Amino acid sequence: MQDVFRQHFVKKLAGFSGKSEEEINRTISRPPDAAMGEYASSAPFLTLTAISNQNKDKLLGLSEAYESASAQKNPKQIAEELSSKFQQDEFISSVEAVGGYVNARINRHKVIEISLQAAFAEKEKYGSSSTGNGKTVVLDFSSPNIAKPFGIGHLRSTVIGAALKRIYDSLGYKTVGINFLGDWGTQFGKLAVAFQKWGDEAKMGDGPVEYLNELYVKYHEESEKNPALEQEARAWFLRLEQGNKEERRLWEHFKELSLKEFSRIYDLLGVSFDSYAGESFFNDKMGPVIDELARLGLTKESQGALIVDLEPYGMTPCLLKKADGATLYATRDITAAMWRYNEYGFDKLVYVVGSDQKLHFRQFFKVLELAGKNWAKNCYHVNFGLIRFKGEKMSTRRGKIVMLEDVLDRAIELTREIVKDREMSADKKEVIAKAVGIGAVIFNDLKNKRAKDVDFDWQTVLNYDSETKSFKGETGPYLQYTHTRLSSLLRNYDAVIDGKADFGLLKEDLEFQISRELYRFPQVIEDAAEQFEPSLISNYLIDLASKFSRYWHDVRIIGSDNELTKARILLAFAAKTVMANGLNLLGIAPLEEM
Ligand code: ARG
Repeated sequence: MQDVFRQHFVKKLAGFSGKSEEEINRTISRPPDAAMGEYASSAPFLTLTAISNQNKDKLLGLSEAYESASAQKNPKQIAEELSSKFQQDEFISSVEAVGGYVNARINRHKVIEISLQAAFAEKEKYGSSSTGNGKTVVLDFSSPNIAKPFGIGHLRSTVIGAALKRIYDSLGYKTVGINFLGDWGTQFGKLAVAFQKWGDEAKMGDGPVEYLNELYVKYHEESEKNPALEQEARAWFLRLEQGNKEERRLWEHFKELSLKEFSRIYDLLGVSFDSYAGESFFNDKMGPVIDELARLGLTKESQGALIVDLEPYGMTPCLLKKADGATLYATRDITAAMWRYNEYGFDKLVYVVGSDQKLHFRQFFKVLELAGKNWAKNCYHVNFGLIRFKGEKMSTRRGKIVMLEDVLDRAIELTREIVKDREMSADKKEVIAKAVGIGAVIFNDLKNKRAKDVDFDWQTVLNYDSETKSFKGETGPYLQYTHTRLSSLLRNYDAVIDGKADFGLLKEDLEFQISRELYRFPQVIEDAAEQFEPSLISNYLIDLASKFSRYWHDVRIIGSDNELTKARILLAFAAKTVMANGLNLLGIAPLEEM
């Protein structure tokens, strides 16, 4: 849905200032305080040339115009001048100069009418668009390492990546979600040696990855005492790289066990992938890439290793091959990026990976650029901060790593406890416990700007107040609860809601404010995609929910005036629609009851 208010304002302002609509569009922001209006334009800061345009009519020279403009006018004055040219119309109710900005307020009734009608007409499609049609976005996310526990750190990549994928999907892009599994590297030699020496298939039980990780830890302890183990491990991995059947079989076994465990987590989170082409997939594809880089004169030898010198760009070298011929993480990433470009012809290639790998991405993006891949500029490292655990310690049985599955199980368990006395079937309670527990963990991750570190504190993740028996604060359950309240309010009004109402009856300030939020929803999705920032949607939903809860408190939605009730019910319907669509984008289930 196009923002007609914005377009109208831009068009007018373009006419008054002599700038193009495109230029004006770039000057638009939201005023810091909603009371100041809906849009602010910094056009006055650009208008010096506009003034020269006006003056052209008077056949004034450009430099002369510039001089007279800068001598006489400052952005504040220009803002006042431009503002005074506006007249109230169908879309804009008033325009005001504030500092160097031109601020516009929009026509309240028009916003209410357009947003409620659009949400009713488009329902689960409201907010989506076709701006991305014909374009492809490849997202590399989650990407855990085989035979290593799926840590809480991989949760962030999974949750942010999956949200971005849904966001791009909703804008009409073709998306490809890739799980770039860490399934290759010398560590597999170590694991195999450990497994053959001390491992016991029968002991794996239902947590094989945990078991393998213990073996891996043991290997490191033992190899300190017995360096010969290193030799063995390297030899084993070499045989694997050469395609030896026996080794291949064991490696595949490890991989299968890991994938089984990972997929339990993906099922809980409701996440899936279009491709599992991990590091091992690129094994036989690196040779030609290294050759290409060498042919371009980008590589050089350094102490037996093959590198790309990045000193001119202020970075340490990018390592392509070790002295013993083994390839590295960067070699596989460079190869994978090229392969993906050939395979998908992407418009954007997005890597959702922690901030600790910043240098790695800067390095290999640079190598791609130096290799003349002009699509390198369309590669993005969508980085994120750490998760830190607060309060209660997770079980230390599994070492220092907090296992994601434990966290999810715990969240579900806590919610089970909360709903256990509700009067509903056991099945229903279980569905709710899952949806709310998982929703809480997902929201906790997506509520902050991704680059920020996340505190994981059970107290705030669920935020259940056992006294008032309600979910509070800025949490997933609070949003789900808002959605269920709207659902139960609307339950008896199905027949009444037909998208029509006397919008003029909605005179409350909150009715305008809520409608304006609803109107803004499509733009919020676009911004979230553009900035790779799902938190824009989570914060938006919190705003919407808190506005609606104030509305509930201040205003009687169901009253004796049928026409007014009908209009308010439509407002609630639109709010529920947006709440559901937004939650779905984040990967949180909108519930009908809880
Ligand atoms: N497996 C890596 C890790 O756990 C993350 C991989 C991210 N994706 C990539 N293309 N490098 O650290």
